[in-house]
Amino acid sequence: MLRFEQVNKIYKTRRDKVTGLNNVNIHIAQGDFAALVGPSGSGKTTFLVTAGAMMRPTSGKVYLGGRDVFAMKPNELAELRLRSIGFIFQTFNLITYLTARQNVMAALMLAGKSPAEQEDAADKLLQKVGLADRADHKPFELSVGQQQRVALARMLANDPPLILADEPTGNLDPQTSADVMDFLTALNKEQGKTIVMVTHSMEAAKRAKRIITCNNGIIEEAR
Ligand SMILES: Nc1ncnc2c1ncn2[C@@H]1O[C@H](COP(=O)(O)OP(=O)(O)OP(=O)(O)O)[C@@H](O)[C@H]1O
Ligand SMILES: [Mg+2]
Repeated sequence: MLRFEQVNKIYKTRRDKVTGLNNVNIHIAQGDFAALVGPSGSGKTTFLVTAGAMMRPTSGKVYLGGRDVFAMKPNELAELRLRSIGFIFQTFNLITYLTARQNVMAALMLAGKSPAEQEDAADKLLQKVGLADRADHKPFELSVGQQQRVALARMLANDPPLILADEPTGNLDPQTSADVMDFLTALNKEQGKTIVMVTHSMEAAKRAKRIITCNNGIIEEAR
């Protein structure tokens, strides 16, 4: 599903060079659920945004579904990001001036669905995350856990086979964290979604099928 081959990322700033990824070789199989753990600044987010085709590595290759991601044409790459990858951020990244329904609809609009289809699908997705009754509320009118659920609904809008989650429970209380973990586990088990999840929580990591570690840009299987 997702394969990194000798991937290096070096951030060049005016003064110095910072290693983001150091010769990463890893394979995430279809249907896998991997937790990525490691200290702050070790390269976890760098790994996710590279896996999500959002940032080009300095060297090496990234394959998604057998395709060399960074050899694709810009429009193919945009299509891949839209259809194949669902991203969840720690800070949710909801659009503040849109309601929950409109936030989910926005993702469907980008995929070319008609307004009626967008609305219908958005309401079904919000129902799935238990927020049907809050569809007309804007993010600031929702609790943090509810905002994360809107972000989950939006992420699922285009039914992506690969889900990349950057500390999806980082800002949540224990109960809401457990709910989000139940939701992700069900997506993996019942719908066969492939998931890579960055987490600082051992509790959350234990829910995954495998744990990979990141240290100074080096990513390897946890022993
Ligand atoms: N745009 C950038 N320019 C320069 N250095 C960067 C940039 N983005 C990240 N870095 C550096 O790359 C390294 C890896 O950063 P990254 O954000 O991937 O870490 P992380 O493991 O996600 O950390 P955290 O747990 O704090 O989110 C860090 O040393 C960071 O300072
Ligand atoms: Mg990070």
